[in-house]
Amino acid sequence: MAKSNVKKGQVKKAAPKVIKKATKSASTASSKRSSVGTPLLAKKTKDYKFPKPHTKTIKAYKNMHDYFALNEKYTSYGMSTRCIHAGNEPSAEFSGVSPAIDLSTTYSQVAPGEPEAFDYARCGNPTRLCLERTLASMEGGKFAFATSSGIAATVAIMSLLKDGDHILCVDDVYGGTQRFLRRVLGENTKVEIDFANFQEMKNFRKHLKPNTRIVWLETPTNPTLQVLDVPKIAKELKGSGILFVVDNTFATPINQNPLSQGADVVVHSITKYIGGHSDVVAGGIILNDKELYDRLFFITKTIGSGISAFDAYLALRGAKTLEVRVQRAQSNAMKIAETLEKHKKVQRILYPGLKSHPQHDIAKKNMRGYGGMLSFYVKGGVKQAGTFLKSLKVFTLAESLGGVESLAECPALMTHGSVPPAHRALLGIEDNFIRLSVGIENEADLVNDVKQALEKM
Ligand SMILES: Cc1ncc(COP(=O)(O)O)c(C=O)c1O
Repeated sequence: MAKSNVKKGQVKKAAPKVIKKATKSASTASSKRSSVGTPLLAKKTKDYKFPKPHTKTIKAYKNMHDYFALNEKYTSYGMSTRCIHAGNEPSAEFSGVSPAIDLSTTYSQVAPGEPEAFDYARCGNPTRLCLERTLASMEGGKFAFATSSGIAATVAIMSLLKDGDHILCVDDVYGGTQRFLRRVLGENTKVEIDFANFQEMKNFRKHLKPNTRIVWLETPTNPTLQVLDVPKIAKELKGSGILFVVDNTFATPINQNPLSQGADVVVHSITKYIGGHSDVVAGGIILNDKELYDRLFFITKTIGSGISAFDAYLALRGAKTLEVRVQRAQSNAMKIAETLEKHKKVQRILYPGLKSHPQHDIAKKNMRGYGGMLSFYVKGGVKQAGTFLKSLKVFTLAESLGGVESLAECPALMTHGSVPPAHRALLGIEDNFIRLSVGIENEADLVNDVKQALEKM
């Protein structure tokens, strides 16, 4: 890990060498320019005193572990406070309250092979590290990685597997995760892969093998919104050495923190709720185990899955408002769910917050809120579903989810089109099955939009 010439606990000062250099070159340039016209830079630039470095917050750190340890001061704070402050402390040099977008691809070293904190941006970058601290804090984990997509996070974790290992994955998992498992890992390696229903413990146990290395699930699942009992599954896996990974994209850290329920690793598609504005593709991995962190650090730097500084900045900006957005989205979703449940053109609705949801009790026990996603079957088939989707005026017909704007889609034809038809049928992903990502627009506009589109069917 990178070595620092600053002792642990000592406050890192802004580099005076750089400041002096900048002042000198600015004054030389301005005196040269003064002979040909008014200088753009005021002459007093040469007397300009840079502000004293901000000394309150950022401590020098010898390695990433120390940097994550700074999060300890936030553990007693609430979710929004952590989302806003952890990793976002005013910059040590100029006190900016928003993290800078650090675009450098390489970093000067104290001595050959002795970088201060970063050496090369594929391996680590200050803006990315800010986001990683925010992610760790929001999930209550010790360490985190910010990746270039949710799938990049998935691939990094699955790169821990080798030929002969077995991964057990929940049957209703995001289509892209399935595609990676079936078409890449499944076709190119000798990793064994099973998909199974995790609702029944008996069934779950039956699928565990001596060579099972990873158990992977998401809850609520995408798109059928099954709710899985994370603490129960964690209990089942305790002491087995099997890595228990939970994709927490749908629930968000606001509603559920799987690490505190016994999971080993949490995965996010930050593209969804954490980013929240449909303008950044990103992913995250959060965990507590230092040894595993070191192994994943090696993997992520080797495969180049780290997020760019620009994208890290957008994700950080989104994360700050996560709690208020999720609260609003799920209150809108509840109203829409109640409307759909009563509607004569709806065959069945799946929303974990409704008593009619098959795992409502599990959701009530394990989650702090029921989320902004809901799915339902319209009466009829593909024609009726198409009419409904095309008639929406406030909802946009589009893939993805978790943004401020409401989206609607038909998983069989869109997000889950790559899932084999037989598997889709098994899960109930029919042509009349519609998924809504409820945004934060005004409740009445969304409810009225859904009603008017149903009337058109
Ligand atoms: C639950 C879930 N996990 C992971 C992913 C993959 O994330 P990304 O699209 O950011 O690669 C998605 C994408 O839709 C998802 O819904």
